[in-house]
Amino acid sequence: MTSHGPLILQRVDELRRGLARHRPAGRTVGLVPTMGALHAGHLELMRRARGENDVLAISIFVNPKQFGPGEDYRAYPRDPAADVAAAASAGVDLVFAPSAEEMYPPGDVTVVEVTGPLTACLCGAFRPGFFRGVTTVVARLFNLFQPDRAYFGEKDYQQLVVIRRMTQDLRFPIDILSVPTVREPDGLAMSSRNSYLSPEERRAAAAIPRGLFRARDAAAPGALAEQLVGRVRETIAGEPGLRIQYIELRDAETLEAMETLNRPAVLAAAVFAGQARLIDNVLLGVG
Ligand code: PAJ
Repeated sequence: MTSHGPLILQRVDELRRGLARHRPAGRTVGLVPTMGALHAGHLELMRRARGENDVLAISIFVNPKQFGPGEDYRAYPRDPAADVAAAASAGVDLVFAPSAEEMYPPGDVTVVEVTGPLTACLCGAFRPGFFRGVTTVVARLFNLFQPDRAYFGEKDYQQLVVIRRMTQDLRFPIDILSVPTVREPDGLAMSSRNSYLSPEERRAAAAIPRGLFRARDAAAPGALAEQLVGRVRETIAGEPGLRIQYIELRDAETLEAMETLNRPAVLAAAVFAGQARLIDNVLLGVG
């Protein structure tokens, strides 16, 4: 589209008009939903989407519905000026950055929920309502943008699986594309929440990917889940500042618990470093 930086829209009616104007028939739209505080992981999603679509749109919205009562909604990092500069550098055409009232008008009582085992396990077991909040906002964004493609990171692997399910179930005609996790040089997965870490916590947090990579190195077909999980636990236990919430081996598609590595799997971890809750995972194939 233009080289004048992105169009920044805060209201739903502006978004509808903006999309109508910038999307003549036949042009494809790629959407990258975000909560802002953009980092290299987000930029990688945008780079992919930029290459595969005529129009690149992103949303920046810290979604209150996906934060629990004691969680970090208020503290979540917000830096709109830096985000717009990052979006411009990534060739974004349109940024939708609504207020909470615009996204959820007063009296709004409609939610979208993927029920059953996909949302009951892993993060869903510890963050009740989290995935309901995610699918409620992503369904709204899909409905507003009607993109051809939408891009999500493997870093939030369960979120990716849940959004794929929702997209199938609601028959959204949208391709869901996934992007491998972008990491810091020491392996830590990029995350807006890494800004919560003290220098000591930041150093210790690198044990999370180190443990996951050690397990991946040991992941021959038929390996026992217990042993793979044990390797991650051992590595993380070497850092007293880290507290494990879960480490689990699960089927890469259904997220069913697995005892042996006999099909594609995800080895997923949630770990506290101080107050910051960090998640990460590695994908394990077989053969
Ligand atoms: P947010 O945490 O801002 O992440 C936006 C997108 O960037 C997600 O698809 C996430 O998986 C991806 N991402 C984050 N860190 C990444 C990394 N290190 N490498 C690759 N991709 C990464 O996830 C959300 O926001 C929200 O739940 C959202 C989907 C926007 C709904 O509110």
